[in-house]
Amino acid sequence: MSGHLASAPERWSLPLRWLHWAMAGLLMVLLGLGLAIAYGTFDLGQTFALYQWHKSLGVLILPLVVLRLALRAGTAHPASAPTVGSRARLEAGVARIVHALFYVLMLALPLTGWLVVSSSPLHLPTRPFNLFTLPDLVAPDADLYAAMSLLHATLAYLLLTVLTLHVAGALKHRLVDRDTTLQRMSL
Ligand code: HEM
Ligand code: HEM
Repeated sequence: MSGHLASAPERWSLPLRWLHWAMAGLLMVLLGLGLAIAYGTFDLGQTFALYQWHKSLGVLILPLVVLRLALRAGTAHPASAPTVGSRARLEAGVARIVHALFYVLMLALPLTGWLVVSSSPLHLPTRPFNLFTLPDLVAPDADLYAAMSLLHATLAYLLLTVLTLHVAGALKHRLVDRDTTLQRMSL
């Protein structure tokens, strides 16, 4: 049955599909919480709660993305959708860049967030889910804090942009190409 050609699976492995959707949900909640902190009009107590949730859920991303990259490296990838013609090749190239950018952002966003809270002159302790105190990566430093805040926000807007492209691509596969790309990631 197996023949000589190693056949690629039809879908991503179950743990990778779970991680994709769990992290997608988490990242969208984090974007929402971040935007609520930045633009919402909440009282001090509510703002504090939003920060705590943002930081607790945010630090979860780091172990999850490391696990995801490790699993991805050790699992067979599904065969690519056929890329016939120069436009299909271009789209496949854009998708590859988008996916790589996602991984960079999933690492860089929590790390810059961690640097924001470490360098903050206010120096409030970060206690994810009230379980432990996150160690500081650097000493308080107003200039570094300003730079990291700006970088963290810029990366978050880049994530939003990349996500828009990614969803547009997924919808195009489903509605225009009518291929199985969405099924490859479906639970
Ligand atoms: C993938 C994970 C994360 C995403 C998508 C994310 C997203 C965001 C967004 C959209 C904002 C508002 C940006 C603005 O000012 O317009 C923000 C702000 C902030 N984030 Fe995150 N964040 C993440 C992880 C973290 C982590 C792990 C921490 C800290 C442990 C953190 C700490 C902060 C803080 C303190 C702010 C307040 C604004 C500032 O001073 O920069 N974030 N985040
Ligand atoms: C912030 C949220 C999201 C992130 C970070 C994300 C990230 C990724 C990454 C990195 C891949 C490539 C898999 C790999 O090479 O390891 C992927 C694949 C995929 N994503 Fe997302 N995704 C998000 C949200 C979504 C949403 C909302 C949809 C659907 C509308 C979606 C649909 C898909 C599909 C169908 C694939 C499979 C593509 C293929 O196998 O060629 N994703 N996603």
